[in-house]
Amino acid sequence: MIKKIARTILILSSSIWMANQVYAQAPEKLVVHLDKPGAKIEPTMWGIFFEDINFGADGGLYAEMVKNRSFEFNDPLMGWDDKLVDGAEGSILIVNRTSSTNPRFAGVSLKNRKGSYVLTNEGFRGMGFEKDHQYNFSVMAHAVEGNVKVSVEAVNESGKPIGRATLEDVKGDWKTYHVSFSAGETSSKGKLNVIFEGQGKIEIDMVSLFPADTWKHRPNGLRADLVQKLADMHPGFMRFPGGCIVEGRDLANRYQWKSTLGDIADRKLILNRWNVEMRDHQTPDYFQSFGLGFYEYFQLCDDIGASPLPILNCGMACQYNSAEVVSLNQIDPFIQDALDLIEFANGGTDTKWGALRAAMGHPAPFNLKMIGVGNEQWGEQYVDRFKLFSKAIWAKYPQIKLVGSAGPYPGGDLFNYLNKVMRQEKASFIDEHYYMRPEWFLKNATRYDNYDRNSSKIFAGEYAAHIDDKTQKDTAAESHNTWYSALSEAAFMTGLERNADVVQMASYAPLLARVDAWQWRPDLIWFDNLHSVATPNYYVQQLFSNYKGTNIASLTLNDKAVTGQDSLYSSAVIDSAKKQLIIKVVNASSTPRNFELSLGALKGKTSKAQWVQLACTDKLAFNSLAHPDVIRPETKIIGWNYKNQAIKVEGSSVNVFVVPYER
Ligand code: AHR
Repeated sequence: MIKKIARTILILSSSIWMANQVYAQAPEKLVVHLDKPGAKIEPTMWGIFFEDINFGADGGLYAEMVKNRSFEFNDPLMGWDDKLVDGAEGSILIVNRTSSTNPRFAGVSLKNRKGSYVLTNEGFRGMGFEKDHQYNFSVMAHAVEGNVKVSVEAVNESGKPIGRATLEDVKGDWKTYHVSFSAGETSSKGKLNVIFEGQGKIEIDMVSLFPADTWKHRPNGLRADLVQKLADMHPGFMRFPGGCIVEGRDLANRYQWKSTLGDIADRKLILNRWNVEMRDHQTPDYFQSFGLGFYEYFQLCDDIGASPLPILNCGMACQYNSAEVVSLNQIDPFIQDALDLIEFANGGTDTKWGALRAAMGHPAPFNLKMIGVGNEQWGEQYVDRFKLFSKAIWAKYPQIKLVGSAGPYPGGDLFNYLNKVMRQEKASFIDEHYYMRPEWFLKNATRYDNYDRNSSKIFAGEYAAHIDDKTQKDTAAESHNTWYSALSEAAFMTGLERNADVVQMASYAPLLARVDAWQWRPDLIWFDNLHSVATPNYYVQQLFSNYKGTNIASLTLNDKAVTGQDSLYSSAVIDSAKKQLIIKVVNASSTPRNFELSLGALKGKTSKAQWVQLACTDKLAFNSLAHPDVIRPETKIIGWNYKNQAIKVEGSSVNVFVVPYER
């Protein structure tokens, strides 16, 4: 026993000795070379990837609270429940109006004047109501016969009414009626009752409830808290609408942007391909209403200052699913869709598609500069289709940049083939995807150091560090967004930044996820009906984006780029507009590190600098809706000596130093 204690003391004292050695070691010398200006960093450098996965659009960013508002899910009453109250006699009938875009509505008949018939909508895993906030209800209705009064009532999770309003004078042919109420209490799992009283027959469609305080208070709008989080990242671009959703499981269910425009009642609903995709995360109530459609995506890009990057189906369904392709001699409509999209975004109001944009409320162009041809496609069949798209698009719009796929993996035969051929085909960008372990990200900070500088540029279009399931015991949905995953991404991103002349766009994926209805994780932002939480990965993205700079600055440790020596990663940029030098230091080891940082060109001056730090000692830590602030950036102001600045960074930390700098 005594021996064991003595051994423990010895081990402890030697680890203390080793730790002291770290402090005692002569500080390493980091040098930022400011003698020659580095390559330009494109304003697009750090962006966001949006896909309607994990209830990212319907039930998420799109603020509609009623699920299956138009009775067009496969099961027309999915999400709805009905009951007869106080002796009422009545029924509901689903009617097909033989329209290809809005095929169904519901007919409600009331036979006696007693009680009421109540249709209840469960929302997307409940509805979120906030005390004293206003909610706007609307419905298309046709009073067929008799006299039926329609009221709406919000109820909390126990069924207690917390808000009510009655529609005035529902009479005659189809019209849209609007009414508002205020919620008397907060409930995150409320429901909506639509109450019918009287005697007669009424038909209803597009039963809708939105919070009044959507983003910019727009009708048919977006959830303000979620858009705010996107805006706070200052993304250089936004890729939309995905992801595999672009491809569809089959071509019939591919994303067709033209069906997402105009009157929301006429945007044809389809099954969301993530509905049935994940065996352990089936979501039978997942459809695409397209209330958030291409016009709204472009508008969102405008709002948050992101360059739009639509990804279009190139005549191929998801190669993990049906792998259907359209034959080459029938591909013209797909190509025409791409040409028309450019006209929709950029064309004058005297053009067909530009006029539609103007009619929807945006006469000014959306300034579209790039398009993705296909999502994560691979193989010769993709190249055949890419060639036809690029030929037609560049013939009419030579200035439009085209993104070509590198397939689903960061290496291997599929990747190598496309990496070669996309360059031959002069793709403006090659879209690389990597969902890999944190260790891969740590090892690959040098990935782009030797890429060809004079060929296609790189779009790191989808990436995220995926931890091994076995390493995380916590079962919370958000638990895979660990601090270690974020740290490893930050390390990797110093490599992207150092190579910003080649990697000109990068986006973490996916962006949004509902805690109670997700199919894929990790994700950047988690939410429920009322709240959202930024993950550590979000803060990493935000730090790189908010401090992206305008030019790369060369930074060395012992004359070499800092690419993971002793788990240290670092990169530097200059922001010539803000007159700042920005140095990012990622310490992926658990030991603190000491440095002396010198800026060759600026010897002798002193100043104050801003130090933003993300740090945590627990690599499995994560932010959740319940505990949103476990990991968040801390900012302090420090004195800065340009000649030799002593810096000590914590173990497991991401640090951004912002130093005043004028050339
Ligand atoms: O981001 C989730 C999915 O990952 C995307 O839909 C797809 O492009 C990739 O396989």
